Amino acid sequence: MTATPTILVFDSGLGGLTVHREIAKAQPGARLIYAADDAFFPYGRHGETELIARVVAVMSGLIDTYQPDLVVVACNTASTLVLPELRARFTVPFVGTVPAIKPACAESKSRLVSVLGTVATVRREYTHALIRDFAQGCDVTLVGSPRLAELAEAALKAEPVSDADIAHEIAPCFIEKNGARTDTVVLACTHYPLLLDRMNRLAPWPVRFIDPAPAIARRVTDLLGPTVPGRPEPATAHFTSGKPPSAALEAALTGFGIGLPAKV
Ligand code: DGL
Repeated sequence: MTATPTILVFDSGLGGLTVHREIAKAQPGARLIYAADDAFFPYGRHGETELIARVVAVMSGLIDTYQPDLVVVACNTASTLVLPELRARFTVPFVGTVPAIKPACAESKSRLVSVLGTVATVRREYTHALIRDFAQGCDVTLVGSPRLAELAEAALKAEPVSDADIAHEIAPCFIEKNGARTDTVVLACTHYPLLLDRMNRLAPWPVRFIDPAPAIARRVTDLLGPTVPGRPEPATAHFTSGKPPSAALEAALTGFGIGLPAKV
């Protein structure tokens, strides 16, 4: 591996920034590229065949352009579907983001765990297999949210998002059964940690929301080894739409340590 590895973090939109942030901390010397397929956002609304073809095509272009040493697919909706195809087509190592069902079920005391993801992610066979293999006797409720990823993007762009809308999307996660209550909610979409403060405030009772980003960053360091602090340049942003970001988005990107989008 090179002394200054190039890591490409990929998502449909801005959710992968929550993963990017942890990777930036864990890999202070790496060159980072943040790529968002915003021209095709949200991934949760696309059919499986269409999404596989899209991600493979976009990834092919990104790998040619940036020659990464490692790619992080910071998107559950893509990872639960496309990873086998990506690994078969490209030689670069891929780290995926899949619902953190195993640690959630290992840690739940009430044994009532909810998985909050896009409608597509909670439908995936991959997610159902994780529950079969790792629920460890927990009662797992799958909650597919049609709107939360878009609400998270809007909030990050400083557009108005009401508490009522967020509360409505997360409400089905909260289950009371035989005197027990859900105590753990897996955030199975990388957009949702962008709303974590508000979800904590709006939850009908306190729960542990599991954000997989720190575990993904550890996995990246397992594969690449530690880097020496001293990033060569700010992270580059690449948006497939080619649209210039609004002032609010630019400010948000700067907050995540990302420079201006590269011309596409
Ligand atoms: N950030 C993506 C995820 O982790 C999904 C949002 C979408 O494009 O639907 O699933």
